[in-house]
Amino acid sequence: MLGVETSCDETGVALLRWDPEKPGRGLLSHALFSQIALHAEYGGVVPELASRDHVRKLLPLVRQALKDAGLTPADLGGVAYTAGPGLVGALLVGASAARAMAWALGVPAIGVHHMEGHLLAPLLEDDPPAPPFVALLVSGGHSMLVEVKAIGEYRILGDTLDDAAGEAFDKTAKLMGLPYPGGPALAKLAEQGTPGKFRFSRPMVDRPGLDFSFSGLKTQVLLAWQASDKSEQTRADIARGFEEAIVDTLAIKCRRALEAAGAKRLVIAGGVGANKRLREQLAEAGAKDGFRVYFPRLQFCTDNGAMIALAGAIRLAAGQQQGDTIDVFPRWSL
Ligand code: KG4
Ligand code: ZN
Repeated sequence: MLGVETSCDETGVALLRWDPEKPGRGLLSHALFSQIALHAEYGGVVPELASRDHVRKLLPLVRQALKDAGLTPADLGGVAYTAGPGLVGALLVGASAARAMAWALGVPAIGVHHMEGHLLAPLLEDDPPAPPFVALLVSGGHSMLVEVKAIGEYRILGDTLDDAAGEAFDKTAKLMGLPYPGGPALAKLAEQGTPGKFRFSRPMVDRPGLDFSFSGLKTQVLLAWQASDKSEQTRADIARGFEEAIVDTLAIKCRRALEAAGAKRLVIAGGVGANKRLREQLAEAGAKDGFRVYFPRLQFCTDNGAMIALAGAIRLAAGQQQGDTIDVFPRWSL
């Protein structure tokens, strides 16, 4: 199975040998090109530039992945691609290329949901989680708590009312003058920050429910930053306070979601899942409260082709079929 990911600013490709007994086991190769440098000077992703760069990078990456796996196109049994949600032009590049390759080779093509890819990414690791479990999906576009009763059977327990967790990281980083993409830069800076120097509120934890809201937190940071001496240490202290607030909020809601679903396994996925503090805090909470936490390896937290190959392989194996139409869904709920 070839997996193709082009929903945003990462061109990702991977090859997976399908084993029904061990779905996430057979990863043969994966290749990624990040467009970070291309978008950095604009302070965010420029959709048209993203699409054009996917056009440039996709086929060379497919060739690279085939070479690394010692395969030729004739070895492919299917092609999976991200059909949404994401940037429409970027999605269309992946969908058109994937469908064209599949059609030329006479193998099935399947469009998969980007967030299902993220959600299944921990299955690519040793000792993968078995459903039922609760998944915290935290990326640049989403902050969701999902009850996974079985693969393909999802119930959304909570969603964001405004900014996604990654978006909050990125916007907060930007307002303190950090370079794009802000999330990892802010997290790195927070390591030098003094714990507790700035304390921001944990949004929406004092009311019932599992939804998130992070835009107020961003405003609190803006006010603190504007009133500060703007020194490098203060920036690190504010970054630390912000990260503590977000991580605490996510951890509190994860606990509640596990209780609501009666689950003992928690999966963390999506770009913010790469955050060290979040990983450590949840692993500690799990050890204390008797639930187990599963993460994808860092490179499979952010966008990649491997999670798409896996999600597509699972769906094809389950008998899902699609026609030859090239359809993408920029907005698409899980
Ligand atoms: O899953 P992803 O690669 O793309 C989307 O589907 O959105 O997630 C990217 C997001 C960005 O907002 C980025 O700032 C955030 O994940 N991110 C982080 C870290 N690494 C990536 N946020 C906090 N700490 C990190 N270490
Ligand atoms: Zn993503």
